[in-house]
Amino acid sequence: TSSSGPRHEDFLQCLELYSEDTNSISKVIYTPNNPSYSSILQSSIRNLRFNTTATPKPLVIVTPVNASQIQAAVTCSKKHRMQLRVRSGGHDFEGLSYVSFVEPFVVVDLINLRTITVDVANSEAWVGAGATLGELYYRIAEKSRTLAFPAGVCPTVGVGGHFSGGGFGMLMRKYGTAPDNIIDARLIDAKGRILDRAAMGEDLFWGIRGGGGNTFGVVVAWKVKLVPVPPVVTAFSVVRTLAQNASKLIHRWQYVADKLTKDVTVRIFITRVNSTDDGYGSATVQAEFVCLYLGGSDGLLQVMKDEFPELGLVKEDCIEMSWVESTVYFAEFPSNTSVDALLNRTPPNSIQNSKGKSDFVREPIPESGLEGIWKILMEQVDGGNAVLLLHPFGGIMNEISESSIPFPHRAGNIYHFHPLLNWDENGREASEKYLNWIRRLHAYLTPYVSKNPRAAYANYRDLDLGANTPGQEVSYRKARVWGIKYFKNNLDRLVKVKTSVDPANFFRNEQSIPPFSA
Ligand code: FDA
Repeated sequence: TSSSGPRHEDFLQCLELYSEDTNSISKVIYTPNNPSYSSILQSSIRNLRFNTTATPKPLVIVTPVNASQIQAAVTCSKKHRMQLRVRSGGHDFEGLSYVSFVEPFVVVDLINLRTITVDVANSEAWVGAGATLGELYYRIAEKSRTLAFPAGVCPTVGVGGHFSGGGFGMLMRKYGTAPDNIIDARLIDAKGRILDRAAMGEDLFWGIRGGGGNTFGVVVAWKVKLVPVPPVVTAFSVVRTLAQNASKLIHRWQYVADKLTKDVTVRIFITRVNSTDDGYGSATVQAEFVCLYLGGSDGLLQVMKDEFPELGLVKEDCIEMSWVESTVYFAEFPSNTSVDALLNRTPPNSIQNSKGKSDFVREPIPESGLEGIWKILMEQVDGGNAVLLLHPFGGIMNEISESSIPFPHRAGNIYHFHPLLNWDENGREASEKYLNWIRRLHAYLTPYVSKNPRAAYANYRDLDLGANTPGQEVSYRKARVWGIKYFKNNLDRLVKVKTSVDPANFFRNEQSIPPFSA
C-alpha cells in the first residue's frame, strides 16, 4: 500500500534505535528486496496452500539472535501499528505464523534461537523456542539414554508453537502433554518486558502452557522437566487391510487402547491403498497399528496377548531400540536412518498442500459407522492422499484435571481422531475440491464424536471452526464459538489472563484469545 513505504522505513529505523546490543540488528532484517527474503520466508513453510503468489507476504522478516532484538521488534511493531507474527517451526495448519490478511505485518522468525541445555542431574532442560522437537530429542539423548520428553511425533515441529498449543505424542499416556511438563519459561510480553515464571505470575504462566501461540507474547525459551524411560523400548508397526479384518480390529481397539497400561501406546494410521482383494474395486482400506512400549519385547508380547490378542502380534513384529531411536522410527524415515536425521529441519516427506481437522471420540464408533468412514475414504478426490490418525488417550490423561493447564482434553476421551488430507494440485479451485472432501468427512463424523462442545485440538488449527475477522474488532461472543471447542471451560480464564496482560490485543491472529474489552 502507499502508506507502507514510509512506515516501513520508520519501522526499520526504530529497530536500530531500540535494539541495545552490539550485534547489529540490520544483519537479521529481511525486506522483499533482500535476495534472501524468499528463501528465509519459505524455509519453514510446511503447507503449500500458503506459499502462492496470492498469499500475503510480510513487509519485514526479523530473525533475532538474542532476546533484545525480539523486544525491539515488539516495541517497534506496536509503535508503528504493524501486526507481528511469531514463527518457530512454521507447522501451523493454517499458516498463521507467517501469513496475515491485515497488512503490513512483520514476521519474527526464531530460527536463530535454538540453544538447548540439558541438565541430567536435575532431569531438566532449557530449550530455545526456535528449536524443533527433533533437536530436543537428539540433545537429550546425547546426554542420557534414560531421559526423554513427551511431545509430538514429527521431528520438524517447532517447540515454540507446539508447546504453546498442547503437544502430544507417543509418551502422552505415560507423562501427559508437553506443557504438562513445562516448569518455567522466558516470555516477552506486549510491553516488551522479559518475564520468567516468577515475574509473570502463575496466571500468565498457566495461560502460555496450551492457550495457543501468538496470544500472550513471544516465548523465547521453555524450561522443561525430563521424564525417565528405560534404556530399551520396543516398537512395532503391524499392517492389516479390510481382507485381513481391519474393521473388526479397529472396532476392538476402541475398547482397549485407552485402558492399556500407561507403558503402551498403540495408535492407528488409516489410509486407502491399492488392492484387488476387498470388494471396493481396485482399492482397500489399510490400518497400520503403530506401537511404543516402555520396556523389552517380552513384556509387550505379554500385554498384547492379554489385552489385544486379536491383533496377532508376534515376536518378529517387535523391534527393540533406545527411546531416541524410536522417535526416528515413528517419524517414518526410511529404515536404518541415523538419529542425526533428527537435526534436519526439512521434513522427511515432501511438502504438499494440506488440510487437517481434529475430533475427540468418547464412545466407540459402531462398525456401521466405521463402514461409512471407509466409504468416504474410498470416495476421496483423485490426487488426494488422506490419512486418518487415531491417537489413544487414557493413562495419565485421566488423572490430570481439565483446568490444570489450558489444554482441557482429559478423562472421558478414548482417542483423538485426526484426518489429514495432502495434495499436489495447486490453485484455489483445486483446493476447494479437496477441502470439500475433508469437510464432508467432518460432517459425517458428527454423531460419533464429542458434543457440546464438539471439542477440537488447538494445535490442529482449523479456521472452519470460526475465526476473528481480519482487521475487525474481535468479539468475545465470536471467539467463544471456536474457543470453547479448543479450551472448553478454560476459555474464560484465558480471556481474563489476556485482558490483564494484553488489553489492547497487540498479539493476535485469526484464532487468538481476545481480551474482554475487545
Ligand atoms: P508455527 O511456527 O507455525 O507456530 C504455530 C503458532 O504458534 C502460530 O500462531 C505462531 O505464531 C505461534 N508461535 C510460534 N512460536 C511461538 C513463540 N515462540 N511464542 C509465541 N507464539 C509462538 N501436534 C502434536 O501435538 N503432535 C504431533 O505429533 C504433531 N505432528 C505434526 C506434524 C506435522 C507435519 C504438522 C504440520 C503438525 C503437527 N502437529 C503435531 C501440530 C503442531 O503441534 C502445531 O502445528 C504447532 O503449533 C506447530 O508449532 P510450530 O512452532 O512448528 O509452528
